[in-house]
Amino acid sequence: MLIDTYGRVATDLRVSLTDRCNLRCTYCMPEEGLQWLAKPDLLTDDEIVRLVRIAVTHLGITEVRFTGGEPLLRPGLVGIVERVAALTPRPKMSLTTNGIGLKRTAAALRQAGLDRVNVSLDTLRPDVFKTLTRRDRHKDVIEGLAAAHDAGLTPVKINSVLMPGLNEDEAPELLAWAVEHSYELRFIEQMPLDAQHGWKRDGMITAGDILASLRTRFELTEEGSEERGSAPAERWVVDGGPHRVGVIASVTRPFCSACDRTRLTADGQVRTCLFASEETDLRAALRAEGPENSDENIARIWKLAMWGKKAGSGLDDPSFLQPDRPMSAIGG
Ligand code: GTP
Ligand code: 5AD
Ligand code: SF4
Repeated sequence: MLIDTYGRVATDLRVSLTDRCNLRCTYCMPEEGLQWLAKPDLLTDDEIVRLVRIAVTHLGITEVRFTGGEPLLRPGLVGIVERVAALTPRPKMSLTTNGIGLKRTAAALRQAGLDRVNVSLDTLRPDVFKTLTRRDRHKDVIEGLAAAHDAGLTPVKINSVLMPGLNEDEAPELLAWAVEHSYELRFIEQMPLDAQHGWKRDGMITAGDILASLRTRFELTEEGSEERGSAPAERWVVDGGPHRVGVIASVTRPFCSACDRTRLTADGQVRTCLFASEETDLRAALRAEGPENSDENIARIWKLAMWGKKAGSGLDDPSFLQPDRPMSAIGG
């Protein structure tokens, strides 16, 4: 079991498959991209599957989410999903993607055993999409969403970040569209995890702003806390149901006390939290020769790392420092 000193148990593993991405969202990375990890530093497909197996068989992980960067850029993705689906016990499996390439891969991913996807889409306006992501790929995302829905990767969830002066007025329009297509929309407060360190607390759109904007057009009723469990999204029933809308308010309404996550970076480091300042290397043990490389030893290192998990993100501490790794390299 992965338990920390606050009594939280991690049952949800997030695995970053690559730090690379084919978009350049302004709240995430600069136009020129980042210094990507070198190939030999990345875990191989075999190493990823082995770590997931250890997590499932030795550490009580029941849900696995693949993230990036953009995980569809990882050539071995379908094979990894297939091999994880064959594990006993079989974990629930989901993917967080920007949707580009999903049109092509959705059916194969479903076939391989993927349960569902979350897709990022911040705007319904192709010109705003181009400004926000610095790429002209709006159509690909819309088609990717439809393909995921058709392939049964449901519920298909949409993640939207609202940015001042760009798409901040789009919340009601996005929700009407999501309801029409039976996608579950969630708005995410912008977090200080951009590579450029440009985040400003007083410049972000808050959960309060988003709800006020949605209420100009919809009636929202808060869902009970039992239904939320450890999910980062608080949810509201839209116009009496059955559709719901979520808000992930990491900044103004943090949910760290219910956190059930552990993270693995594409280069094999355990992170206890998105905002952790330290990482624990599993790759060295995975590549060692001798007893250090046993399943039991790797599980022991992972447990020890999680035991040291901090109480929360620290975002409200005056001494808060942004982590060295940006969101794209941590895995959302
Ligand atoms: P489900 O609700 O299970 O579908 O997934 P999710 O919302 O946890 O995952 P997703 O990858 O779609 O992430 C949505 C947003 O939540 C992203 O901006 C993540 O960075 C953020 N997020 C995910 N896990 C955490 C967490 O532990 N802490 C915080 N503060 N944010 C998180
Ligand atoms: N703050 C909040 N959300 C972010 N995402 C990427 N960077 C940030 C940030 N700085 C979102 C992406 C994607 C999800 C995994 O995280 O848009 O939907
Ligand atoms: Fe890529 Fe996601 Fe970052 Fe956008 S937010 S640049 S889709 S990793």
